Amino acid sequence: MNEKKIGVDYSILHQIDSPANRLIRDSIWGKENDIGQQSFITPSYLDDLIRRLRIGGESHVLDVGSGVGGPALYISSRTGCRIAGVDISNVGVDMSMNLARKSGLEGKAEFRLGDAMKTPFGDNTFDIAISLNVMNVFRDKVGLFREVLRVLKKDGIWAFLSGTFDMPDDPEVIRKMARGYLIPQYYDSLANYRGKLKEAGFQIEEITEYVSDFRVQNKKWGDAYKKHYKEIIKEQGRENTDYHIEYFDTYLRLIDEGKAANHLIISKKP
Ligand SMILES: C[S@@+](CC[C@H](N)C(=O)[O-])C[C@H]1O[C@@H](n2cnc3c(N)ncnc32)[C@H](O)[C@@H]1O
Repeated sequence: MNEKKIGVDYSILHQIDSPANRLIRDSIWGKENDIGQQSFITPSYLDDLIRRLRIGGESHVLDVGSGVGGPALYISSRTGCRIAGVDISNVGVDMSMNLARKSGLEGKAEFRLGDAMKTPFGDNTFDIAISLNVMNVFRDKVGLFREVLRVLKKDGIWAFLSGTFDMPDDPEVIRKMARGYLIPQYYDSLANYRGKLKEAGFQIEEITEYVSDFRVQNKKWGDAYKKHYKEIIKEQGRENTDYHIEYFDTYLRLIDEGKAANHLIISKKP
C-alpha cells in the first residue's frame, strides 16, 4: 500500500521566483542577502567559510545538496574556484545551471542531478567538499561520508553545517519534526556525528557552533510562513504549510531548550 507523502517538497521551494517564494525570501533575506540559499547561511557566513577552508582559485570544490546553486556560485564568484554541485531535485539543478549561465560562471561550475549517496564523480576528484544544512536527509550518514571520502583527494577537507539534536524521547516532538519536509529527516547528535565521521575514515579537525545565528534564521523562516500564510497555502497546500510551520515552531523550542543546535564540522581525509 502506498503511504501518503506529506510535507513541503524541496522542489517547490526551489522555484525561488514564484509569488509565495518571493514573499518568503524577501522577508527572510531582503534583496541584498538573497543569494538563492535554502539554508540559514548568509553571504557573510560564506565569506567566513571561504576563509576557514582557504578556498582559492586553485581549489576544486564539491557542494553536496547544492539546492538552486546559489551558495556554490557565490563561493566560485568570490574565489575563482571550480565548483560542482549534486542535488536530487531536477528543479534545483535546472535552476543552478540557469544561475551559472546568468552569472557567467558556466565555465567554472557544474551541477549534476543525483543522489549524494552515489555521486557521478570519480575517485580523488575534489580538494574540498562542503554541505550546507542538508545532512538530516541522509539515513545512512556513514555511507554518505564514505562516498564523500571517495571523491576527495588525500588531505581533502570535508566541511558540513548541520542541525545537531539531542532529540527528546517524545513521540509528539518526533512527529512534528518528521513531517516538515516531503523527504524524511534523520536527526543526529554531535556525538553521533563525531563517531560516524571516524567510522567512515575521517579525521575531525574543528567544530564550531552557530546556534545563535541559526535561531535568528529559523525564527525568520517561521515568521515568514505565518506572515504570508494565505499566499503560501496557494502554492504549498494548507496541510503541508501547517506541518512546515509546526516544524519551525518545534525546532525553535528545541533550540531554546538546548536540545537542538547547528554545527560546522570540519574534517580531513587522512
Ligand atoms: C535545506 S536544502 C539546502 C540547499 C543548499 N545547500 C543551500 O544551502 O541552499 C536541502 C537540499 O538537499 C537536497 N537533497 C535531499 N536529498 C538529497 C540526496 N539524497 N542527494 C542530494 N541532494 C539531496 C534537496 O533537494 C535540497 O536541495
